Amino acid sequence: MKEKFYITTPIYYPSAEFHIGHCYTTIIADAIARYKRLTGYDVFFQTGTDEHGEKIEKKAMEAGVTPKEYVDKIILNSKDLWSSLGITYDYFIRTTDKEHEVAVQKIFKKLYDQGDIYKGEYKGLYCVPCESFWTESQLIDGKCPDCGRDVKEVSEEAYFLKLSKYQDKLIEFYDEHPDFILPISRKNEMLNNFIKPGLEDLCVSRTSFKWGIPVDFDSKHVVYVWIDALSNYITSLGYPDENSDKFKRYWPADLHLVGKEIVRFHTIIWPIMLMALGLELPKKVFGHGWLIIDGGKISKSLGNYKDPREYINTYGVDAVRYYALREVPFGNDGNFSEDALISRTNTDLANILGNLVNRTISMSHKYFDGVIKNPKVEEEIDESLISSVLDLKIKVDEKMNNLKVNEAIDEIIEVLKKCNKYIDDTMPWILAKDESKTDRLQTVLYNLLESIRICSILLSPFIPTSSDKILEQLNTKEISYDSISSFGKLEIGSVLNKPEILFHRIILKSE
Ligand code: MSP
Repeated sequence: MKEKFYITTPIYYPSAEFHIGHCYTTIIADAIARYKRLTGYDVFFQTGTDEHGEKIEKKAMEAGVTPKEYVDKIILNSKDLWSSLGITYDYFIRTTDKEHEVAVQKIFKKLYDQGDIYKGEYKGLYCVPCESFWTESQLIDGKCPDCGRDVKEVSEEAYFLKLSKYQDKLIEFYDEHPDFILPISRKNEMLNNFIKPGLEDLCVSRTSFKWGIPVDFDSKHVVYVWIDALSNYITSLGYPDENSDKFKRYWPADLHLVGKEIVRFHTIIWPIMLMALGLELPKKVFGHGWLIIDGGKISKSLGNYKDPREYINTYGVDAVRYYALREVPFGNDGNFSEDALISRTNTDLANILGNLVNRTISMSHKYFDGVIKNPKVEEEIDESLISSVLDLKIKVDEKMNNLKVNEAIDEIIEVLKKCNKYIDDTMPWILAKDESKTDRLQTVLYNLLESIRICSILLSPFIPTSSDKILEQLNTKEISYDSISSFGKLEIGSVLNKPEILFHRIILKSE
């Protein structure tokens, strides 16, 4: 039986204004999910929407509709965006799904019954847009440190989750699982900034608004964000039924991919909830950096916002995916600019990949009517190309297993560059002029076509549309991962399809 791989993105707050930064988590998760599928895993890739809370309640009221009507409409925006980005999720969970709501009530009750949740009084400073509580010392100039808006003082009866009880157990877990939080800097941040100073119990219910999952044994309260949101990763699998097929098959998650600002919730609150429920903990939480613009956030109010679909329509889906995957070393923040997207597309996709494919397929048509001829005369230069192409599978695998997505892509680009250099060195157009060199010309073109086939298969998780187009031009059925372990699978005598430009070079506005 195939090995399983359960990967999740965070569930997104419903929004009509997703920006390119929002796409970042999901594009990377999709690339990893596709890669795992390619390499033979039974992948379960989940995303969804986080639909409760005061902010949504307010927006719905402003729009004159019920919160449910509001979210039903607005979540279509996420689904549409993910579809335009070619996101291949296996399951889309909504926190308003009935099964999820019932499961969260059961989780809350179980934790209450066993004494991990207790009733108390909450006093704090609350930022409504960010749905976050802050302490006085965390405020910046008396305002929310995240969004700079006013906070309000809140005091109300609330339920609390006993994080403090699990503090030592959590530290022990971190020690025993050194790869649980990556990059390692984020683990140190959690330990030094939050855990070692002492975990405070967490407010997990609210009475000041209604748009949430009701606490079924105390109807004044609704479950407050994190118990509702984090549980999505197990309720989608059928929990609390631990015997459900999906739960047995996929839990624990292999990878929770999250933005850096929610690492804390995924590596402190979530593991503690799971410990309290007596469940296994996820294998890995990766906290990636942010896409920023000119060092700051992306937002409509800052005037730097564009709907990601505009980039997709202008430059193509693979250019956008490629940029997100390749430009920023995974884990760090990265500056987003349209010019950088354009130059990345021009250099890597148009000049290196596109040119290579176009030149090779065009020459094959020109010299051999598109028929794939068998290689006959080997030269020393071939060996170095072939061995780089064959080593690629292992190198990419090593990088992907360490979640170094940009470096995995880099490895492929290096080989594509080698292929271009191979064309320059072997000069097929000169060989074509001399009939006695036809055998050599056949070999050169075969080596190039086969190298392109192997690289395209390895590129398929990252730029799936272009990879499909290339394999279509090659007119080959050899597209499996197994087929790239040896060099020479392209069938001799089969006929290539017509060349088609993959990426047009884009002219920069400043050029
Ligand atoms: N609803 C919570 C998550 C609950 S998970 C149990 C949430 N939602 S969100 O819509 O605000 O964010 C979704 C994801 O988008 C997060 O991983 C967040 O880090 C990511 N990003 C939002 N802006 C981003 C950038 N500018 N750059 C990269 N990722 C960013 O948080």
